[in-house]
Amino acid sequence: MRAIVLVGGEGTRLRPLTLHVPKAVVPVVNRPMMFLILSWLKSHGISEVILSACYKTDILKKVIGRSFQGMKIDYIYEKSPLGTGGAVKRAEQFIDGTTVVMNGDILTSLDLSAMLKFHREKRSGATIALTPVSNPSAYGVVETARGGSVLRFLEKPSPEEVAGKVLNINAGVYIIEPGMLALMKDGKVYSIERDIFPKFIGDGFFGFVSRNIYWMDLGTVAKYSKACRDILEGSYKIKGLEVIGKNVKLGRGARVVKPSVLGSGTYVGENSRIGELSVLGKNCAIGKNCVVERAILWDNVKIGDNCVISDCVFAGGVKVGASSSVSGETVLGEGTVLAPYSRLRSK
Ligand code: GTP
Repeated sequence: MRAIVLVGGEGTRLRPLTLHVPKAVVPVVNRPMMFLILSWLKSHGISEVILSACYKTDILKKVIGRSFQGMKIDYIYEKSPLGTGGAVKRAEQFIDGTTVVMNGDILTSLDLSAMLKFHREKRSGATIALTPVSNPSAYGVVETARGGSVLRFLEKPSPEEVAGKVLNINAGVYIIEPGMLALMKDGKVYSIERDIFPKFIGDGFFGFVSRNIYWMDLGTVAKYSKACRDILEGSYKIKGLEVIGKNVKLGRGARVVKPSVLGSGTYVGENSRIGELSVLGKNCAIGKNCVVERAILWDNVKIGDNCVISDCVFAGGVKVGASSSVSGETVLGEGTVLAPYSRLRSK
């Protein structure tokens, strides 16, 4: 079976992390976000994936490639972003049978196989995955009837509208049958939630509700960091997680507090402490007498001696001069250089 994954967004809310790489390539505990999604799709029998791309396509192709664990990967491009709905319409040629369509920034343990079974049993034209969240006002809420038919979409309802209610939100995973997009125009900008799904209502459109699953969209830095921490703590499990990579070296008195992950070639200087809840990418170098906690450092980050780095995300190649303190959800873009004795705290 085939899946179409939407990866064409600019990921503006993740800036500066997405200034040089598309969101799909952003490392989640040292592997591209897309690899986690592809593993999940593979575990549910998907054999072919079409990536619907638009932003930083060269990097995307270079990192993700043409195959993944035996799955075939293909690409379809937009010259300018067509929105989530326009992108699906553009990929319509690939919807020649029951097809999974999903956002490319979701980490979930949703049982896609059960959703496919539900879709077939209902003889559904389109099925949308739904999951309850405690703060639905940040999402698209979907109301369904008892048998699962979709009744109504409520885009980002106000806190008053949803107060005290357990509501299901659009989990960003869909199953679509051929022909469903016939009325949409090619090359037009559409939102899948606002322009396409409301038109499906009453025409064999079902919601598949999953409770007690892991579900996180990694669209903001806070949710990205939370997903990384969830993986470290085991609430989202990934296979083959390498906790300490090859050629990691610790200086005398250096400690790594669990759960933390250190990429290959990383060096931790004398008497420094890494963790808890830290991820260091490949070839990072941490000076002497440092504390690095609840921090996500991508590859090639260099931290001078006597630094305290906590609750931060640093993109690749960041350099922090000695005796600096960076904390409070600070996010540094690729290649940022901080002078010695810098003080940075975003919250
Ligand atoms: P923000 O700019 O931070 O809102 O991020 P985003 O651009 O990724 O938008 P959003 O989170 O709403 O997108 C959800 C999914 O759809 C992501 O996986 C995006 O890559 C993808 N997406 C959004 N817009 C487009 C588009 O115009 N074309 C394609 N092909 N994919 C898109």
